Amino acid sequence: MKFLVLNGVNLNLTGKRERGVYGSETLDSINRELEADCQKAGHEVEFFQSNLEGELCTKLQEADGKYDGIVLNAGAFTHYSYAIRDAIAAISVPVVEVHMSNVYKREEFRHKSVLTEVCKGEILGFGKNSYLLALRSFTL
Ligand code: DQA
Repeated sequence: MKFLVLNGVNLNLTGKRERGVYGSETLDSINRELEADCQKAGHEVEFFQSNLEGELCTKLQEADGKYDGIVLNAGAFTHYSYAIRDAIAAISVPVVEVHMSNVYKREEFRHKSVLTEVCKGEILGFGKNSYLLALRSFTL
């Protein structure tokens, strides 16, 4: 199977920003671990990060027929991007929403996701392992 791990706004700063919330490992290092886990299981995985909403929408639009599943941490876009929501709804590839932090323990604006309704499921609060669990969920 082939998967896409898609990260949105500010996730490129993982390991540098708010380490108490997101940990001290960089996104690149997390991605290498995910790649190793997929390879061990005989799966392929690609990675893409952007701070631009439209670029994430384009990546989603192009996903049909290319990937068997997408793991998406849209960052703050999660809470207000109807454009990303519509892009997920427009494709048939299943998308699992992830968050490293437990957003329900945080500010109230983070309690609302406009994406969950159009996603296959949601995994949050397990740090970098949220991504790992989401990837593995596709092969359960
Ligand atoms: C996040 C949670 C979001 O509220 C926040 O804006 C992020 C990261 C997480 O992984 O916990 O940038 O998606």
